[in-house]
Amino acid sequence: MKSIDLRSDTVTKPSKGMLAAMSAAEVGDDVFGEDPTVNRLQNEVADLLGKESAVFVPSGTMSNQIAVRIHTSPGEEAIAESGCHIRNYESGAAAALSGVSICSVDGKRGILAAEQVASHIRKGYEWEPRPRLVCLENTHNKAGGTVYPLETIQEIGHVARENHLAFHLDGARLWNATAATGISEKDYAAPFDTISVCLSKGLGTPIGSVLVGSSDHMLQARRIRKMLGGGMRQVGILAAAGLYALEHHRGELAQDHEKASVLASGLAAFSCVTLDPDDVETNIIMFDINDGRDALTIISELSNAGVRMVAFGPKTIRVTTHRDISSEDIDLALERAFTVLN
Ligand SMILES: Cc1ncc(COP(=O)(O)O)c(C=O)c1O
Repeated sequence: MKSIDLRSDTVTKPSKGMLAAMSAAEVGDDVFGEDPTVNRLQNEVADLLGKESAVFVPSGTMSNQIAVRIHTSPGEEAIAESGCHIRNYESGAAAALSGVSICSVDGKRGILAAEQVASHIRKGYEWEPRPRLVCLENTHNKAGGTVYPLETIQEIGHVARENHLAFHLDGARLWNATAATGISEKDYAAPFDTISVCLSKGLGTPIGSVLVGSSDHMLQARRIRKMLGGGMRQVGILAAAGLYALEHHRGELAQDHEKASVLASGLAAFSCVTLDPDDVETNIIMFDINDGRDALTIISELSNAGVRMVAFGPKTIRVTTHRDISSEDIDLALERAFTVLN
């Protein structure tokens, strides 16, 4: 039985067209800045996000952590939403690699208000960490793929600027925010100093993220990337996957959102599932189990039935749609889930 893998949008395999583009890529040594395909990808993503420059990196984690390192010094503090990836799922890297503590603020479904950010900026006493950075996440993974309202981003950007704080976006799934709202990536990116976008989530490449910002910041990013061991050589083969995904896969992300909406309605019909399908804005669904069973027990039973999901808390399960899941897979997943959830 082929299992239907809904654990993450990172599980996608490169499409045929993507593999062909990868094998045809012109390459060079990127540490010398001489890989023409990497340079093309960097220019294209910088243009898309309306910034001067970009750096191709192996992962979203490295991209975010390079940004944290650029904007801060040891002993300083970054303000971020409590459930964000930078704080929870990057192995403590902000503390380990940059000596930075995170002031975590509870958002509403992952979304912070400008007043909340303003009220958490410390006043500058010598015994306090110095505030230096504000990080947002759009879409917000742990909150269930929620989209930041543009106006809220702009208001938080204003607070950051007024207080001389740098402003970074973890835009691992910024493409999904654009697909959901029609607001361009450029408009979303405008208030930020740096933005990290991932190519290996819904866009379906095997690897790769891009950090964008000013030329000065990207010069620093290249140095920090090398320090972290992320200087790569003939990686035009991977950049070609990214270029292909931007051209051919980006426009299809809305289909993942439609599949998530159908799946959410089906899941919400099970009485042991607590989920409002109207809360599902993009390709991620978070739901709770309310019949006393643990999320881990449920996902193990679902896995035996041929549907893979992932636990995100004692009672919380995440489901993610992606380009390797068809509409028929969604119907089949609901059929299989019936045996466990009904
Ligand atoms: C919101 C968000 N940011 C960053 C990352 C990190 O990406 P990577 O797995 O490429 O390190 C992820 C990964 O799932 C993510 O969901």
